[in-house]
Amino acid sequence: MILKITNTPKNLPPVVIVPVASGEGLPAAIQAVASAAGMDAALITADFRAEHGEVQLLYTASTRFFLLGMGAKPAFQDVLKAFRSFSGKYRQKLGAETGISLLHQNLSGAAATWVEAAVNGLALGAYRIGRFKKMPDGNGHPLSAPDATLEILAEQSLAASCEQAARRGLAIAETQMSIFDLVNAPSNKKNPSDLAQWALESGKKYGYQVRSLGKEQILAEGLHALLAVNRGSEYPPAFIIMEYRPETIPPAGLKKIGLVGKGVTFDTGGLSIKPSANMHYMKSDMGGAAAVFGAMEVAAKLQLPVHLIGIVPSTDNSVDAKAIKPSDVIDSYSGKAIEVIDTDAEGRLILADGLCYMARNYRPDTMIDLATLTGSTVRTFGYHAAGLFSNNDELAARIYQAGERTGERNWRLPLWDAYKDDIKSDVADLRNFSGKPMAGAIGAAKFLEAFIEDHPAWAHLDIAGVAFNDSEFSSQKSATAFGVRLLVDYLSHLEGGRE
Ligand code: BES
Ligand code: ZN
Ligand code: ZN
Repeated sequence: MILKITNTPKNLPPVVIVPVASGEGLPAAIQAVASAAGMDAALITADFRAEHGEVQLLYTASTRFFLLGMGAKPAFQDVLKAFRSFSGKYRQKLGAETGISLLHQNLSGAAATWVEAAVNGLALGAYRIGRFKKMPDGNGHPLSAPDATLEILAEQSLAASCEQAARRGLAIAETQMSIFDLVNAPSNKKNPSDLAQWALESGKKYGYQVRSLGKEQILAEGLHALLAVNRGSEYPPAFIIMEYRPETIPPAGLKKIGLVGKGVTFDTGGLSIKPSANMHYMKSDMGGAAAVFGAMEVAAKLQLPVHLIGIVPSTDNSVDAKAIKPSDVIDSYSGKAIEVIDTDAEGRLILADGLCYMARNYRPDTMIDLATLTGSTVRTFGYHAAGLFSNNDELAARIYQAGERTGERNWRLPLWDAYKDDIKSDVADLRNFSGKPMAGAIGAAKFLEAFIEDHPAWAHLDIAGVAFNDSEFSSQKSATAFGVRLLVDYLSHLEGGRE
C-alpha cells in the first residue's frame, strides 16, 4: 500500500472516510462534511449520531464520503476497531484509492494517534484467514493490492506527524497480519523449524540477528527441560535467539530488554492428554512466541531505541512411547531437577530453560515472558485480559499502562511466597504442578520465578485467554496477535526512548 499525505480538500480521492465522534463537536464536524460534499447539514444530522461503528454513506458527484461513528470520547482501540470492522465489511465499496480525512473530524487529542489507529485498523480489515483454501472465495481487499494508495487528508501543520503515524500504523498492521498467519496455521504446517524460518526471514528482511539452535546444540547447551518436552515429538525442537539494536545509536545508552515466548506448536497435553473437544485450539499454543517475533520485527522496522533480545524455545507436546510420563524427574538448564506431575504443564518447562538462558547469558535490564500458559487465566479473566505477574512494581505499572493505552489489557496477580508450597517436591527440587485445581495461573508463575536467577525486573504475561479469540472477522476463534502492540507500546515508552 502506498501512503500519501495531502492537505487539499480539492481533488478528493473517490472514497473518503471521515471518523466522527459523538457528543461535543458533532454539529461542527457534520457541517464541515456537508460543505465539502455540497449537502445540507440538517439532512445528515437527522440520520447520523456517530455511535461507535455507525456508518453513513454520502454520495457526491465524484466521491463517496463514509462518515464513520466513533462513539463518545473514543480511545485508541475504539478507533482501531471501528476502522478494522468497517474495512472488512465495506471491502467491496472501498477502492484502490481511499482517503482518511482529518480535515472534517472532531476527535479530540493528538491527530497522529488517531491516524495510527485508523490506518492500523483499515489495513487489518484486509486480512484474509483462508490461506490454505485451494478455491478462494470472493475477491481480495482493494487495499491489499500493491499499488493501492491510502491518502491521509490533514492540515499542513500536522502533515509530518500524521505521515509518521500512518507509516507506523501500517508497519505494525503488516507484522500483525504475518503473526495472524503464523498463529492460525495448523500444526502440520508449523513445526519448530518453521518458526525458526519465520524469524530468520524476518531478521534478514528487517535487519536483526537470528540464529536457531538445533537438537544437537540444544543438547550441548544443556536445555534439558525443552528436550524433555520434545521427547514425544516427531520433530526436533528449536531454540531461537534473536537480537536487535538500532543502527544509529551506540548500545551503551540503550536499555536491554529480554523477551521470552512459549513456542509450543501444538499441545496435545502429552500423556496427561487433553480432552478432544477444544484440542484444535492448541495450534495457538505458540501465541507467546508469536508476540515476541512480532515485537522484534516491529522494533527493527521502526528502529526503536532499545536493545532487544528475543528467545523462543519451541517444540510440540505430543504422545509417544518416548514421551515423558507423570512422575518423571527431568533436568533443566538451570541445574534444578523437576518432577513432572502433569505433562500438560509443558509450557512452564520450556520457559524455565528459556528464562534461565536469557538471565544467565544476556543479563537484560528487564525480562518479560509471554505464554499461553494456563486455563486458570482463562477462567479468571475470560477473553478480555492477560494475567500479569511481576516482581517489580514499576515494570508492572508500565506494562499495565501500555495495556490501557493499546486495549491489550492486563491485570496483575500476586507472586506471594504463600504459593510456593504448590511447587514443592519430595523427590526433586521442584514439581511442575500442585495437583490441585486451584490458583493455577499463580502456581505456574511461581514455577517460572524459580528460573529467573533472582532477576530484579521480570514480568510474566499469561495470554492463554487473549491470544486466540472470537472475532467478527472469522466464524471460529482466530489469532489476535495479542502482545505485539502491547510490547511495541511498552518499548516506545521506555525512559529516554523516542517514539
Ligand atoms: N496450553 C495450555 C494452556 C491453555 C489453556 C492455553 C487454554 C490456551 C487455552 C497449557 O499448556 C496447559 O495445558 N495448562 C494446564 C496446566 C495444568 C495441567 C497444570 C492447564 O492450565 O490446565
Ligand atoms: Zn499443556
Ligand atoms: Zn501448552
